[in-house]
Amino acid sequence: MIRLAIFGRPVSHSLSPRVHGLFAAQCGLAVDYRPIDTGPGELAGALAAFAAEGGTGCNVTLPLKREAMSLAAHCSDRVTRAGAANTLWMEERGWSAENTDGIGLVDDLRRLGLDPGGRRVALLGAGGAAAGVTAPLLAAGPAVLHILNRSADKAEALAASHADLGPVSGHALESLGDRDVTGPGYDLVLNATSLGQAGDIPPLTAAMFRDEGFLYDLNYGQAATPLSRWANETGIPYSAGIGMLVGQAAAAFRLWTGETPDVEGVIEELVA
Ligand code: ATR
Repeated sequence: MIRLAIFGRPVSHSLSPRVHGLFAAQCGLAVDYRPIDTGPGELAGALAAFAAEGGTGCNVTLPLKREAMSLAAHCSDRVTRAGAANTLWMEERGWSAENTDGIGLVDDLRRLGLDPGGRRVALLGAGGAAAGVTAPLLAAGPAVLHILNRSADKAEALAASHADLGPVSGHALESLGDRDVTGPGYDLVLNATSLGQAGDIPPLTAAMFRDEGFLYDLNYGQAATPLSRWANETGIPYSAGIGMLVGQAAAAFRLWTGETPDVEGVIEELVA
């Protein structure tokens, strides 16, 4: 039995136990993946108890992603740059930490035929969600990556900490559409703001998209509804982030078990 878990608060609504249950069934593995409600400051104790019961790998979600990084004996470069980890696994030296969110995003974009390589990409937001995907997006080789955020200083800081990885710059969200910033428009606009949680959307217009431009929301479910409506009304091709959720889970599952699950069937099952 492989003992896995997800730590966070709230965590009872998480789709991850279902996703990993489907992966385990697919791969013929006996997996016990359970949600463990854990508040800020409680992760070290919760992880120790989990390891004592035979736990070997876990996901960590809000509000513990930074705390997970600080508790790990080893962090990947992606984790260090993002300042956050979502996946831990036990090694002899202690917990190792990875951030699979950006891997999940880029895998899902490729699945949709939207490899960021050579494309003009806008990333809206500069909070935890945006920070988690910046390095993997740049690793995919976009023509430009513009990070646009309400607080421009956060966008500039996030871009500066990734400037060695590719052509990235930070701007104020309100300069979206300003020809000096947006230039000929974007092939790919990625929404990593939390605006959808308040029923709101970023200040987008169809003119900001190039021909065949695509809008991808890192959110899914209710938080993605307002933007999906806007895309429907304006005719901009669109996807919510359910494939990213499954993709980040698949990358974690690979780290824990060595198996690469098929994501397609699981995505279909979740959207059904
Ligand atoms: P997450 O971990 O989901 O990224 P976060 O770290 O709180 O959550 O980041 C939320 C993001 O949504 C930020 O980029 C935030 O912009 P600020 O950095 O300027 O706060 C953005 N956001 C939230 N509410 C917003 C609003 N009303 N208008 C524009 N951006 C908003």
